[in-house]
Amino acid sequence: MANSESVAPGTSALFTPLRIRGVEARNRVMISPMQQYAGGSDGLAGDYHLAHVGRFALGGAGMVIMEATAIEPIGRNSWGDLGLWSDMHVEPLARCAALIKSCGSVSGIQMVHAGRKASINPPWLGGMPLGAADAERGSPPWAVIGPSAVAAGPEWPLPMEMSAADIQASVVLWANAARRAADAGFQIIDLHGAHGYLLHSFLSPLANHRTDLYGGPIENRMRYCYEVVDAIRAAIPDEIAIFYRLSALDGIEGGWTLDDSVVFCRGLLARGVDVIDCSSGGATGDRKSDTRIRRGYAFHAPYSRVLRAETGGLVATVGLIVDPFQAEAILEAGDADIVAIGREALFNPNWPHHARNALSGENFSAWNKEAGWWLKRRGFLLRELENQGETPMSRYSGQGDGQ
Ligand SMILES: Cc1cc2nc3c(=O)[nH]c(=O)nc-3n(C[C@H](O)[C@H](O)[C@H](O)COP(=O)(O)O)c2cc1C
Repeated sequence: MANSESVAPGTSALFTPLRIRGVEARNRVMISPMQQYAGGSDGLAGDYHLAHVGRFALGGAGMVIMEATAIEPIGRNSWGDLGLWSDMHVEPLARCAALIKSCGSVSGIQMVHAGRKASINPPWLGGMPLGAADAERGSPPWAVIGPSAVAAGPEWPLPMEMSAADIQASVVLWANAARRAADAGFQIIDLHGAHGYLLHSFLSPLANHRTDLYGGPIENRMRYCYEVVDAIRAAIPDEIAIFYRLSALDGIEGGWTLDDSVVFCRGLLARGVDVIDCSSGGATGDRKSDTRIRRGYAFHAPYSRVLRAETGGLVATVGLIVDPFQAEAILEAGDADIVAIGREALFNPNWPHHARNALSGENFSAWNKEAGWWLKRRGFLLRELENQGETPMSRYSGQGDGQ
């Protein structure tokens, strides 16, 4: 059992490698996709993105998933989001994929269409729909689309309802973007089917009021997502893994439920999705509307546990996982197969390496040698000084020898 004692070297669940199709991750820690709003209006990855993902890969993560990357310009959340809608996007992303791999992690990328929740400003400007003030700053709003002409909230724009032809055209965009992600060398494609974006909005009765083959009963509401998955599976080599991030529930009366997710995930797995990446909420633009979801430690573990038990598939869980023993316990309890970290990785990009040291008592052996060799010796030296009763403040506190 995981507790505050270390587990015997080689027995940690978190540090047991994971093979999925042609992909072998050195451990079960996945860096959750995190938009950086740093792509510029052309959606191209730059040096900043290299540094962003590189530090996580050097930090020892098994898998690093690049941020939500839009399949078409109007599918971006905000002007700074990355894109995969043209061949121009491939080369800069290929540098990121190559860097992630060269540092020992499996490289992944998330693909998104933000649907009716597109055209917003970054979180530090409010994370709300773009308006006149944003236009003055050079970031004008654009027209958004969705399954139905239903806005995400009172202050949100009315989406244009997609026709059947629009739906078919967008399936092709997903497949083309996935092919580019494969060309860029990514080993995992994570589909953003959560947080109220286009795929999720087809599933949720709160956003999908259609009466055709893509609306109404759950079989119809799942249709678009399944068509996207089928098209992507057909477009990419077999060895590339597909992860599907879904909102396991809306947490709102009349919305998508955990039971719906069980049905949906069984279909995803049957279609060649390899990992269910379990998130939740976001169905509307009101961040406080999902009152049934409590954001405590490991807040998606109760949902990922159900999805794992009911579908038999591999499942990732995310949400306030901050401690190595907590992560180990999540896996040991059968709540997930993969532990994803977001903000904790921003706080400490070396979290996976530290977790390994904490869990197994290993001494920097898994770090890249350029750092690990030095850190091992640093540890010996610090212990020696500690044994001699010396502290970093000895020289200044009047208690040491002042050398
Ligand atoms: C800066 C930032 C950007 C994010 N961008 C994305 C994203 O692009 N795609 C996504 O699915 N989730 C995104 N998220 C959500 C995270 O992936 C993660 O699910 C969430 O932060 C909860 O995990 P945590 O408690 O470990 O941070 C973002 C979160 C943060 C903090």
